[in-house]
Amino acid sequence: MAPSGPVLGIETSCDETGVAVYDTVRGLLAHGLYSQVRMHAEYGGVVPELASRDHVRKLLPLLRDTLARAGLGVADLAGVAYTAGPGLVGALLVGAAAARSLAWALGVPAIGVHHMEGHLLAPLLEDATLQPPFVALLVSGGHTMLIEVAAIGRYRLLGDTLDDAAGEAFDKTAKLMGLAYPGGPALARLAAQGRAGAFRFARPMTDRPGLDFSFSGLKTQVLLAWQGSDRSAQTQADIARAFEEAIVDTLVVKCRRALGASAADTLVVAGGVGANRHLREQLAQVAGREGWRVAFPRLEFCTDNGAMIALAGALRLAAGQQAAPAIQVRPRWPLAELPALHAD
Ligand code: KG4
Ligand code: ZN
Repeated sequence: MAPSGPVLGIETSCDETGVAVYDTVRGLLAHGLYSQVRMHAEYGGVVPELASRDHVRKLLPLLRDTLARAGLGVADLAGVAYTAGPGLVGALLVGAAAARSLAWALGVPAIGVHHMEGHLLAPLLEDATLQPPFVALLVSGGHTMLIEVAAIGRYRLLGDTLDDAAGEAFDKTAKLMGLAYPGGPALARLAAQGRAGAFRFARPMTDRPGLDFSFSGLKTQVLLAWQGSDRSAQTQADIARAFEEAIVDTLVVKCRRALGASAADTLVVAGGVGANRHLREQLAQVAGREGWRVAFPRLEFCTDNGAMIALAGALRLAAGQQAAPAIQVRPRWPLAELPALHAD
């Protein structure tokens, strides 16, 4: 019998400890997040060993707090979901060990969730009526992918990045102009003060067919422009604006192309870069003009969080899936290897 009732979700794949409780009937009951970003800022990037240790420190207090806010005790849980990959192996193991132990102690099923499946199902947290087929744009610090979602668990990769991910490009570009880690959101804020047309960068790979991306050349263009400039605050903002426009335009071109070639009429945007205001506005405009629909998770569910893991896990547990009782994680895990939610 597939379990029904509240499912706990635990996310510890990188530098965010996320915990949530999701119920397939009642929806999201509570979620909590602790970000390690300030701790890693000192080092200019995520230090894997520090990330694992901080998950150890923060996970159980966050879990107790989130359950209390949902008005539940551990005994009310019908299942436990955790991010099993991809991600940092030590960080993943903290969440997997906690989730598995709790499930074993409670005698409830546990399931390891694919982090990217979590991201691409996150828009369902806002709109339970949103159902496949749709095309998903996954734009995070580690990925830039266009995926055709025929059904939950049936994923076909349409396009991928050949080098840097979109978020990585934001972070590296911010760093080379002297902004503090993680630079993506800071660069986007700065772009709002930039003047239109002061700089212009290429829209990589938009002049040839296909849905792949490449962002590392953009970073070099920014470096050259920055080094050859007066390096004033206004120039920094102007470059930030031109960079953001180049990334956003490129993503929009490929999304239009993917929607044009697909039978689906909905685009779902997920991952940290999905928080970018300019990207949201541009996609909404194009969608309105061309007659398709675009769905975004709310900002806090674009970046890493426990709610998306609880949701993806709850759907799989409700479909009768669960993982064997061993603590296993997969630092690398192709999305196409996931089983479909329901057999045909
Ligand atoms: O999905 P996420 O939280 O973590 C990964 O799984 O990677 O995405 C984090 C990425 C970072 O590269 C960050 O700079 C970027 O998302 N990001 C943004 C914005 N907010 C976060 N990039 C552009 N504009 C934003 N507003
Ligand atoms: Zn993520």
